[in-house]
Amino acid sequence: MVTKWRPETWRGMPIKQVPDYPDTAALSSVETTLRNFPPLVFAGEARRLKAGLGAVAEGNAFLLQGGDCAESFAEFHPNNIRDTFRVLLQMAVVLTYGAACPVVKVSRMAGQFAKPRTADAETQNGVTLPAYRGDIVNGMDFDPASRTPDPQRMLRAYSQAAATLNLLRAFAQGGYADLHRVHSWNQGFVASSPAGARYQEMADRLSETLDFMAAVGLTSETTPQIRETDFYTSHEALLLPYEEALTRIDSTSGDWYDCSAHMLWVGDRTRQPDGAHVEFVRGVKNPIGLKCGPTLEPGELLRLIETLNPENEPGRLTLIARMGADKVEAKLPPLIRAVAREGRKVVWCCDPMHGNTIISSIGYKTRQVDRILAEVRGFFAVHEAEGSYAGGVHFEMTGQDVTECIGGAQAITESSLSDRYHTHCDPRLNASQALELAFLIAEALKKKRTGEVSRRAVAAF
Ligand code: PEP
Ligand code: CO
Repeated sequence: MVTKWRPETWRGMPIKQVPDYPDTAALSSVETTLRNFPPLVFAGEARRLKAGLGAVAEGNAFLLQGGDCAESFAEFHPNNIRDTFRVLLQMAVVLTYGAACPVVKVSRMAGQFAKPRTADAETQNGVTLPAYRGDIVNGMDFDPASRTPDPQRMLRAYSQAAATLNLLRAFAQGGYADLHRVHSWNQGFVASSPAGARYQEMADRLSETLDFMAAVGLTSETTPQIRETDFYTSHEALLLPYEEALTRIDSTSGDWYDCSAHMLWVGDRTRQPDGAHVEFVRGVKNPIGLKCGPTLEPGELLRLIETLNPENEPGRLTLIARMGADKVEAKLPPLIRAVAREGRKVVWCCDPMHGNTIISSIGYKTRQVDRILAEVRGFFAVHEAEGSYAGGVHFEMTGQDVTECIGGAQAITESSLSDRYHTHCDPRLNASQALELAFLIAEALKKKRTGEVSRRAVAAF
């Protein structure tokens, strides 16, 4: 029997990955403060994203989701926000123009702070302290004061998320994202990379198209779709006291929404069907993501789908497969078949990052661009073979010129990882690596879409 949901019913369920706050009174006081803070997003926006994802579920659009593994207080700077936004725009325009396909843009920004960890504690030189769980929970420095979970950090995370979102909204709606600025998004080290050069050519062609459209009367003034874009936020719904405090009833529909982001996802470590995290997200009406790792069995996936999307609403549920390049071809087909057999409407998205993390010989957590690409290719190939729609990609990336992932046209090597390794958690693609991948995905998408158009034309003949 399904019990009645409330924002706090997760508290009665088994829970993983919880920080051990020593001062529970301080925690409650922060929760009360947060409950009185304004929502960060509005229910109508979350519904609009759900409609966009509904189009993806039907095969008529593509999802691009990306951003930091973990946002940090130290890297909070308008230039960092702008640079990540800009690369996401560049990737989106490559996909839209290259594949003639609408792209739904969702960032891992403005709230992606809490991190699940493999171990609860970390030992260095015989000293054991709580693991770092993201800046919203504790600090990365290895000392007792910094590693003790501090609820006040939630207030700082909220304020950073609010300011980030404010700038993102301004960029998306205030002129920065106008397609006439397509050349100006190609900046700095990205512009001088091979992907940047390729982008430049595409931007030239797009400018010609815009000139033609202007000649027939479609300009930034007459056409909002040219002038501005929809840009959404998402993060892992991991730190439930924070998520609960930002969950509100929408006055127009009477439904509950988690107003900390447009889309929330459940991580691979917290997706137990009877667990607290699944319980929490099942009751909010936002679009929901579910990370699907190689240990997820088809039966369990169907159970999760029944809990998370009982009404089979397209756009409600995005399955984010993160199998690893060597496992995607074996592990993904049984899940796709189970979903198809039951007629479940989902978005299938590929996270080629989390199944491909390795430790380099000099101790850095890293990922090889080739393995990331191999998983994306495997994901497309499996969907092609199964007759299902490969609907999106999910990247950990940044607009900065970091050296965290090995390979790509810049040929970052193991020994250069230490040059600019800044991530607070997992290794991210830098802007030129991310753009390079966008071109490869656009090609795959285009091939599939033109194949379909010609198949349809033949069928109609
Ligand atoms: C993440 O997206 O940063 C993450 C921890 O992913 P997963 O839950 O798939 O391991
Ligand atoms: Co990560």
